[in-house]
Amino acid sequence: MSILGNILPHEAPQTITVSLGNRSYPIHIGSGLLNEVPLLIREAFGMRRCIIITDSHLSNVYGEKLHAAMTRIGLCKDDVLVIPAGEQAKTFSYLSFILDHLFQKNIDRKTMLVALGGGVMGDLVGFAASIAMRGIDFIQIPTTLLAQVDSSVGGKTAINSARGKNLIGTFHQPKMVIADVDTLKTLPTRELRAGYAEVVKYGLISNPDFFTWLETKGHKLLTGIKEKQIHAIKVSCEMKAQIVAEDEKESTGKRALLNFGHTFGHAFELMANYDNSLLHGEAVAIGMAKAFELSTRLGLCPEADTQRVKEHLKSVNLPISIQGRNWNTDKLLASMYRDKKAEDGQLNFVVTRGIGQAFVQQHVVASDVKAVLDLN
Ligand code: NAD
Ligand code: GLY
Repeated sequence: MSILGNILPHEAPQTITVSLGNRSYPIHIGSGLLNEVPLLIREAFGMRRCIIITDSHLSNVYGEKLHAAMTRIGLCKDDVLVIPAGEQAKTFSYLSFILDHLFQKNIDRKTMLVALGGGVMGDLVGFAASIAMRGIDFIQIPTTLLAQVDSSVGGKTAINSARGKNLIGTFHQPKMVIADVDTLKTLPTRELRAGYAEVVKYGLISNPDFFTWLETKGHKLLTGIKEKQIHAIKVSCEMKAQIVAEDEKESTGKRALLNFGHTFGHAFELMANYDNSLLHGEAVAIGMAKAFELSTRLGLCPEADTQRVKEHLKSVNLPISIQGRNWNTDKLLASMYRDKKAEDGQLNFVVTRGIGQAFVQQHVVASDVKAVLDLN
């Protein structure tokens, strides 16, 4: 019987495939999956040397247990590599620290990295995997809602630059993603909420029915109802898998929709020095509210939709404004001009004609952006 077949029926995981030809991979979503990781890896890849990399908040909670289980069946012979938790680890220093560690351990091209943690671990470890020996395999075990619905899928890897968020990185698809909702039980509420912003994003870009579902069921997901969490992760991953299969490298504009709210959000994160005062998902929540306000200002989107979105974000205690922050509008704009969607010195934004109708608008003028920033 297969590993997945051994799981009790009520806990049967959902599996979604990211279809990319011979680089296709599964996303397993369910409860109790962390216990299955060693067998899932062995069944899919045979006996491979694996190195688990996680952050300092997670090494005791999940890292050591997973390491022990993988060591028992011969997949691990190296210790867990632990990186300080938080956005500030997405730097050249920690990238280089990971690479040094791998070479010191004499990895070879068959060695597989296991990124255990949130989006920070996924982005950093994925980047290391993409350049070590010109590219080795890695798998994602996302433990935040944000990583389970977004960052673990699609192969974007990155570190931050002093000039902007995620400006340095690669595309390198994982070989497998294993999302265990049980890990969300230990996730701080603020982090769960921040991840929820990326869930809302899927409804806002092209799935109005999902947004309506979130308006009525979102709070249940946030109070920890597993069935609702699994549903939301599944819908999100199905949408992301489809978009990535169609536009893996963001060359047709389809994948750019996943950046809804992010041109604003990334600029806010830079202004906050990537510190804990503003989490990525919180910046995205404000950014999505601003993207709606901008769309309404440009005459594209009914005011009623903008209000409805802001009401929902507020109802789950996500921020929707940067009022009161002592940020400089010109610096914010300068950072938006370095956004990866900008072309020929022009601002391109993901805007919308209403809930579920996002698209890329070229040549947005700076005065319209400034007008919705609500800074003095
Ligand atoms: P994160 O990785 O910093 O995790 C948030 C915090 O929660 C950390 O302190 C972490 O230690 C802790 N944590 C993680 N899982 C936990 C658990 N189960 N129990 C207790 N604590 C836990 O942040 P994040 O929000 O997961 O990810 C944000 C990052 O993801 C940003 O850098 C963003 O740019 C990136 N991102 C990347 C993509 C992509 O496509 N590659 C998409 C979206 C976001
Ligand atoms: N989170 C944006 C993307 O994966 O394209």
